[in-house]
Amino acid sequence: MKITLRLIVSLIFVAALVATIFSYYQVQNEEERLTTELTLRASTLAESMEGTISEPLLSNSPERLKKFIERFIKRDPFVGIAIFDSQCVFVEKSPNVDFSKQAFTKYIMESTTRKEGISYFETIDGIKTHIYTFPLRRDQQIIGSLILTHNASYIESRLKEIWRNNFVRLLILSFLIILTTILVVRWSLTGPIAQIADWLKGLRMGKIKQPLNLPRGDVLGPLANEVTILVKNLALARASAEVEARLRAESESLWTAERLKEHVRQEVGNKNLYVISNREPYMHQRRGGTIECIIPAGGLVTAIDPIMRSCGGTWIAHGSGDADLETSDRNGKIPVPPEEPNYTLKRVWLTKEEEEGYYYGFSNEGIWPLCHHTHTRPIFRLEDWIHYQKVNEKFAEALLDEIENEEEPLILIQDYHFALLPFLIKSKRPDARVAIFWHIPWPNPEAFGICPWKREILLGLLAADLVSFQIQYHCNNFLDTIDRFLESKINWEQFSIERQEHITLIKPFPISVAFPAVLTTVEQPGVNKETLLKKIMKDHNISVEYLGVGVDRIDYTKGIIERFRGLERFFEKYPEFIEKFSFIELGAPSRTHIKRYHDLLAEVEETANKINWRFQTKKWKPIIYLEAHHNHDTINRHYKAADLCMVTSLHDGMNLVAKEYVAARDDEDGALILSQFTGAARELHDAFIVNPYDVEEVADSIHSSLTMPPDERKLRMQRMQGILREHNVYRWAANLVATLSRIRLKKNT
Ligand code: F6P
Repeated sequence: MKITLRLIVSLIFVAALVATIFSYYQVQNEEERLTTELTLRASTLAESMEGTISEPLLSNSPERLKKFIERFIKRDPFVGIAIFDSQCVFVEKSPNVDFSKQAFTKYIMESTTRKEGISYFETIDGIKTHIYTFPLRRDQQIIGSLILTHNASYIESRLKEIWRNNFVRLLILSFLIILTTILVVRWSLTGPIAQIADWLKGLRMGKIKQPLNLPRGDVLGPLANEVTILVKNLALARASAEVEARLRAESESLWTAERLKEHVRQEVGNKNLYVISNREPYMHQRRGGTIECIIPAGGLVTAIDPIMRSCGGTWIAHGSGDADLETSDRNGKIPVPPEEPNYTLKRVWLTKEEEEGYYYGFSNEGIWPLCHHTHTRPIFRLEDWIHYQKVNEKFAEALLDEIENEEEPLILIQDYHFALLPFLIKSKRPDARVAIFWHIPWPNPEAFGICPWKREILLGLLAADLVSFQIQYHCNNFLDTIDRFLESKINWEQFSIERQEHITLIKPFPISVAFPAVLTTVEQPGVNKETLLKKIMKDHNISVEYLGVGVDRIDYTKGIIERFRGLERFFEKYPEFIEKFSFIELGAPSRTHIKRYHDLLAEVEETANKINWRFQTKKWKPIIYLEAHHNHDTINRHYKAADLCMVTSLHDGMNLVAKEYVAARDDEDGALILSQFTGAARELHDAFIVNPYDVEEVADSIHSSLTMPPDERKLRMQRMQGILREHNVYRWAANLVATLSRIRLKKNT
């Protein structure tokens, strides 16, 4: 039976059952009400007649009784009257009812014994009749009985009417049920199912590229989600297969997620990969009444997540989301990515004081400005340093628990938050292979030398088997720093340091992004720049020919103010672009508990407002500053729609925004303006390389990138993509893992 029919039959059956039960009770109540009403009427009538009848009855005057009865039934012909004497002998009656066929004696006796009126129903001449027997009294003596009859057939009619009305209602209800069921089933089930089927067919035949637009919360929402993931996987598999095919055809050394997986398996067998970072890749946050899973902004997550997705393992990080605790198990673990888990995130819990001292304090007010040349003074506080040490110990414990039963585990530590971790791990597990990747720049010895705990930091790092930086220049700075502050043997040919029989390799591994781009939504390959630009313009209520974009954590190292100054100068110098070009800055607030960052938020906004105030017209403004945690889809849409992307960091280890923008341009269009002080500038030579402090140069490069011939723009983008294709994040991870796994531990154990 079809689902619609099954639904209709069940609903009608239930409705009929409910209607029958209700009608039954309604009929019962109505019958009781009408009977009571009739009895009341008869008793009132009898009592009012008692006085008039008693006299002629006692004086044995049937004539008077007859007259009384005649007079009465003239007024009310539907009432029958019969009068009996005290011996139950019939005295007088009205002619409108045939009293002769009835035996009243029993009821007369009962009512005189009980000394009250009694009522009952009989059928007289085929008519349901209400009979009321009333004892007539004079001075407490029973002198006779009065019988009043009422035609009660209307009660039956009324009860039948109730059944009939309720039946008609049931019919109408059934009709509505049928109609509603058909519509609801069509709208919510058969329609969407047919839509999914058409969509799948279209995808299979390569005719459809857009995502499936079903309301996610609806009954088919979970199915639609699963189908979307399935299709995404299929698209990925297809893309991967195409890439592999191209790889074979062109014998290119292209790295893919699959190839990395295979490579890691060959290098380390079935060992797990352990990643440690401060920032977690998936953070659970409370928004309104619901819990949302967000991906924090920043290059680290962008780079490491694809590797963990393809190799599996455990990622240990600070659980900093306000709903992290309730979404993790009692060991702080949760399988991720949420939509398709393939590795474990283990969250480490920190107290407010620990977070304050270790993260905000020592890491971000101490080491961060120490390593970035941005003229922001580092602040070193003893209590921050104490917390930094404690938190490093806490993470070491969490990791040591995890690797307890694993021989020669492979550990990739991320960033400046964990300078002491290599030492803490190696002192307990000398067999572990430990690499630390320092995502940010490493300063020269003079700059680093101001740190009161420089020795401890350097010793902590040197315990690692591999210390890696984004570029060779930072490796050189590190080797110089060691040379200046620690006794050790530096091998400048091998780029290694030997100290107390332990060798540490110092190597550059320029981090990258997943390219060819990993599809994050099914729509990506098909949607063109024009459509996206139109949508973005509509969202911001502007209409321009050219769009620029900047994507940053709001950090003083990113040169956002310098970028805005460059834009201001551009509009001054090239006023023909007024009302033709707008710049959208997608800024994610970051580390806002630190005063410098807090002040920067206001400073960035103020600068944008000032420039807007100066140039804006009724229907246009030069800078649209959107301060929020933007998701990957939003960022990607802006990348794809923008004619240019500006990365103007004052100092940056790599800067993955530059690479993400290039990777997102599957139309091979768009221009990149890139600070010479980023690691990325060493690879992306086809960007417009600028000094962000040089306002004229920034303004001119905006102009050049907007006016450059399309062919040249395309060529530059193709070349940059060529670099990313060859040096993508899978290759980065493959090199890192291979270098680490091939290090000989002999000397250290
Ligand atoms: O750029 C250095 C870095 O630590 C990145 O590795 C990371 O993505 C980014 O800063 C984010 O910083 P935070 O975790 O403090 O928000």
